[in-house]
Amino acid sequence: MTSEILSREDTADTDGDGISGRANWVRDLLTGDMALGRFGWKAGQPGLVQQTAVAYQRDMGITSDYLPDHDCGEQTKDCPPPSAPELGAMSIELVAEYVSGLAPPPRLNHEDPMAIIGMQLFKNANCQACHAPSMRTRSDHETIAYRNQRIEPFTDLLLHDMGQELADDFVEYGASGSEWRTPPLWGAGYVGHVLGTPDECTDPFSGGAEPNYLHDGRARSLMEAILWHGGEAAASREVVLAMHSEEREALIRYVSYPFDDPSLHEAEPMRCVGDLNGDRMVDGGDLSMLLTAWGMNGPGDLDGNALVNGADLTRLLDRWGPCE
Ligand code: HEC
Repeated sequence: MTSEILSREDTADTDGDGISGRANWVRDLLTGDMALGRFGWKAGQPGLVQQTAVAYQRDMGITSDYLPDHDCGEQTKDCPPPSAPELGAMSIELVAEYVSGLAPPPRLNHEDPMAIIGMQLFKNANCQACHAPSMRTRSDHETIAYRNQRIEPFTDLLLHDMGQELADDFVEYGASGSEWRTPPLWGAGYVGHVLGTPDECTDPFSGGAEPNYLHDGRARSLMEAILWHGGEAAASREVVLAMHSEEREALIRYVSYPFDDPSLHEAEPMRCVGDLNGDRMVDGGDLSMLLTAWGMNGPGDLDGNALVNGADLTRLLDRWGPCE
């Protein structure tokens, strides 16, 4: 996936569309080398283990074998002195392992005619120049189930200058104060549901608690988030401002869980449908992976509707046996 992310870079804006995605090269604390940043608002972390250790240290004040010192910033005078790390390396690794297997929530809007209209409006506003619809996971991931997965996260994972109004003037490696990593949009409409009390919420898109978006949570709705877009994204914002209200509503229906245009999916002649673990056999191993992901999004989603269900099971059973 690294090469796929870098292939979208356009640092000098050679195609002249006003949009110049840039990778953030950051220090990998595990190896000491520079690595491609993928996680965090400014793509400051190269991998999930480091992201997890940093979150414990900076967000919760919990030290670990990975980051044994408290991070109090420069202003704090009474920073606790170094003591024995509060968490072992194993705890950090287990949390990272758990997080890496979390599936995006199910998609419910892909047959909604209004969302399909919204898809066209999204393209017309050139949102996909940064919120890139799909990418493929690397082919050499140590977990076989994570290899070669076509995902639709709607991000290029690159940095973009979003203008002065969104700037925090904080520099993180190559990212300037006004540069932010494009956040993924899959499941965006679930944010309020996640922040609210899920038990009281029967329809995930009904909102739950009041959602908030953007790096500092200033936007209380998806439309507000879009209207804060400046800098490289100013032209997209202008297109949205020129829409009439039904068009804006259709755009939001789509953005609440964007999906790629099914007619554009690349053909996959070499892929053996149902062979989820890549051993050239569709058998019990694949079946158990599919059943594990039942009712969620995951490797068993053979028809690409972001939900593993009976239709996927039928497809898998139809292909039972060796791959030709
Ligand atoms: C130049 C790149 C770029 C373009 C073009 C762009 N975006 Fe964004 N988008 C971003 C970045 C970067 C952020 C994060 C900014 C921040 O947090 O301050 C973002 C944030 C968002 C968010 C909030 C997501 C969240 O989880 O907080 C939404 C929704 C969104 N964009 C939708 C759109 C739509 C719809 C369009 C087209 C009208 C669009 N964007 C065009 C780069 C872009």
